[in-house]
Amino acid sequence: MEEITQTDALRKQVLAWRKAGLRVGFVPTMGNLHGGHLTLVDEARRQADRIVVSIFVNPTQFSVGEDFVDYPRTYEADCALLESKSVDVVFAPSVETLYPSGPSLQTRVDVPRLNNILCGVSRPGHFTGVATVVAKLFNVVQPDLAVFGLKDYQQLMVIRQMVTDLAWPIEIVGAPVAREPSGLAMSSRNAYLSAEQTEQAAVIYQTLTMLADRMTQGEANLNALVQAGLSQLIAGGLKPDYLEIRRAADLEKAQPGDQSLVILVAAHLGRARLIDNLPVMLP
Ligand code: PAJ
Repeated sequence: MEEITQTDALRKQVLAWRKAGLRVGFVPTMGNLHGGHLTLVDEARRQADRIVVSIFVNPTQFSVGEDFVDYPRTYEADCALLESKSVDVVFAPSVETLYPSGPSLQTRVDVPRLNNILCGVSRPGHFTGVATVVAKLFNVVQPDLAVFGLKDYQQLMVIRQMVTDLAWPIEIVGAPVAREPSGLAMSSRNAYLSAEQTEQAAVIYQTLTMLADRMTQGEANLNALVQAGLSQLIAGGLKPDYLEIRRAADLEKAQPGDQSLVILVAAHLGRARLIDNLPVMLP
């Protein structure tokens, strides 16, 4: 596995692969890799001949007061995991390399409708930071396909919208949420939880499955379901940021008759803000 920090070196490598007719897969990450990230690498392996994984804790997607400084950075361990997955290149640019004129950008990628709902409400500017850095990474890596986790459902929708709107010839692949045996979605931010809080956090997935079961059994009063879900999270010791039932295709408010829905939740527990979601297909 080659470790590359400079954009020119990366471009050169990818160009050589392309000339050889190889299909290039890309998995962008912020490092502190866990089983969830590795399932994305496995998915890229199934669909591409060469794999680039980026590790970059992107300052522009963190608001003031968020955990940019504290975000766990475990580069050596990450490389060992990627090596074990036969990743071809890890691209780990510095902030100065990716943002030569500093991270307060003059050019941004904004996906307004999706930016200002759900996680965008409590994290203003977050998805602009995500879309902008992913756009930059796409321009540097120029992959044929890129894999993103359904764990960050709204993020995946933002990326899909951006790629469609800007006519990028990149296939966006969504990979299922990887979970701990308790159902807790794997996340770098789970490292902020104590052992007791990790057990408590299982209530998120329990709540999602409880709501999905009630919906598939015919409960159509979405407001009542949301209230029941919020009560369960609060009883479990979490502080919900939101719990919403939306249309899976575009994250618009669910309307009577919609069949393909997704339940999305964000909740605080101790220092961590945890997110999760569960798609629900009504009969
Ligand atoms: P990060 O949180 O490191 O996540 C990198 C990728 O791993 C994302 O596509 C995310 O959805 C996926 N992922 C994380 N946990 C997962 C899980 N439990 N199951 C499946 N996939 C999971 O998301 C980011 O980084 C950044 O916003 C980034 C896209 C790299 C832009 O900076």
